[in-house]
Amino acid sequence: MIELRQYRRHEIPPLLAAQIASYQRIQWPQIRDRNNRVWEWDDVNRDYMHFVLIDEEVVISHASVNWRHVTLGGERFNVWGMSSVFTYPAFRKGGFATKTVSAATDFMREGSGDLAMLFTGQPLVKFYTAIGWEHVPTARIFYGDPDAPVQKTDNAIMMLFMSDRGRKACEQFAREDVFVGPQTW
Ligand SMILES: CC(C)(COP(=O)(O)OP(=O)(O)OC[C@H]1O[C@@H](n2cnc3c(N)ncnc32)[C@H](O)[C@@H]1OP(=O)(O)O)[C@@H](O)C(=O)NCCC(=O)NCCS
Repeated sequence: MIELRQYRRHEIPPLLAAQIASYQRIQWPQIRDRNNRVWEWDDVNRDYMHFVLIDEEVVISHASVNWRHVTLGGERFNVWGMSSVFTYPAFRKGGFATKTVSAATDFMREGSGDLAMLFTGQPLVKFYTAIGWEHVPTARIFYGDPDAPVQKTDNAIMMLFMSDRGRKACEQFAREDVFVGPQTW
């Protein structure tokens, strides 16, 4: 039976964690690099969530949600991030990623964040827009060393504004230099 499950990072069953990590190692080798642990079991953080669509023991689709503080114009914002969205190839084009990303997006909408961001390839802008995300081509996102930040230019930037504060700042997030920390997601 196909069902959607939601887990905190450190509480995910090992059988599912291994399938998520294995997919990541092939599609995004930089995430785990040559790490000899399969999963971050010690990463106890109530806001790092994994949304997994499974059929019994098998992972079909996955999306993860993280958060961080981002300061812009002297104000501190709670910013959600979505990453590691995938559907195992045999299950693609069946609406499974839509289901999984929608659940993760609803989770963020219902939380206490101000806005959310994700980075994706141009062909998938339509996919995320259909779920409610906004393509912000003018956004200028920086990461790395705060004294010598690097601009993220390899992907389309999608955002979602939830709180009144977030919505009010949407023009700022669309135009100003935004430093998001040592790494993106
Ligand atoms: C992108 C991905 C997650 C889509 O998964 P999926 O389960 O096939 O997606 P869905 O079936 O829910 O597709 C929803 C819509 O997006 C479209 N779509 C799916 N994959 C697409 C792609 N690679 N390029 C363009 N459109 C795509 C579908 O055609 C569908 O549109 P429709 O409703 O008009 O028919 C999957 O192809 C994948 O794992 N890709 C490799 C990893 C990746 O790129 N992840 C995204 C990181 S930001």
